[in-house]
Amino acid sequence: MILNASGCLDALTAPNVAAALDCFVTKTVTPLPRGGNPPTRIAETPVGMLNSIGLANPGIDEFLRVNLPELAALGLRLWVSVGGFSAEEYAASCALLDAWPEVEALELNLSCPNVEEAAESAAAIVAACRAATTKPLWAKLSPANWDIAGSARAVEAAGADGLSLINTIRGLAIDARTNRPVLSLATGGLSGPALKPIALAAVFQCRRVSQLPIVGMGGVRTGRDAFELLAAGATHVAVGTTLFADPGAPGRIRAELQVELERNGFTTSAEASGIAHAPARA
Ligand SMILES: Cc1cc2nc3c(=O)[nH]c(=O)nc-3n(C[C@H](O)[C@H](O)[C@H](O)COP(=O)(O)O)c2cc1C
Repeated sequence: MILNASGCLDALTAPNVAAALDCFVTKTVTPLPRGGNPPTRIAETPVGMLNSIGLANPGIDEFLRVNLPELAALGLRLWVSVGGFSAEEYAASCALLDAWPEVEALELNLSCPNVEEAAESAAAIVAACRAATTKPLWAKLSPANWDIAGSARAVEAAGADGLSLINTIRGLAIDARTNRPVLSLATGGLSGPALKPIALAAVFQCRRVSQLPIVGMGGVRTGRDAFELLAAGATHVAVGTTLFADPGAPGRIRAELQVELERNGFTTSAEASGIAHAPARA
């Protein structure tokens, strides 16, 4: 299955791009509306993109009243990304979303580097959400956590149904003219090509300790990138930053992935998932 990475596509303004995906994931919605961080919020680097959007979103009440009915009308398979600043906040949003049959699953954004407030542990948040909804819960983990496999095990024990790997990692760009940080908040989340080896490592390490399905993401630009995430242990792949430069990426990557699967003797993504864990051939 090919999805978009949360925050990298607005299905309402680009419904044809969303239609090329197997499933659409919303931008993270928080309990209260957030205007996000002041500009400049985006910086390009030679190896990817820095963003400090700051989880700008209309808040869960407005989202349920306006955005969700509009998204549901598009007829897409739909996951909603949920954020917050305490386990109770996450759980309250999950309880509200539980009433919507159009929402297939919830992705818990347990990792946003631009949000200053301390979050409770990933497992505590998952446990609270598990008690609030019967919908599948995907725990989205941060690569900043050095023991990401430990987190994977903990969220699985707390009731997660899947892992989304990975979110951005903190970075900084300095303006060549002013010698000051480009972004208003100085640091931001790095996404794009630089993230791919980090995503591969996270997927590989989590697959070693967990059999949960994994959405792999981070710097996917080609079918080969998607194939490598599958090989490391992902069962699905999401496309993020690439969509800004190439809105046609989902269809192209799907076709390239099929060629790559066949070149390697597979017919389905499921057959290729985890093959990098096999012992090396003599
Ligand atoms: C502009 C922008 C906004 C993002 N917003 C969110 C968000 O709201 N929630 C979330 O979980 N991840 C968010 N992300 C992270 C992506 O979903 C993804 O994890 C990350 O960008 C790595 O994938 P990529 O290299 O393909 O972009 C955002 C990324 C970008 C570039």
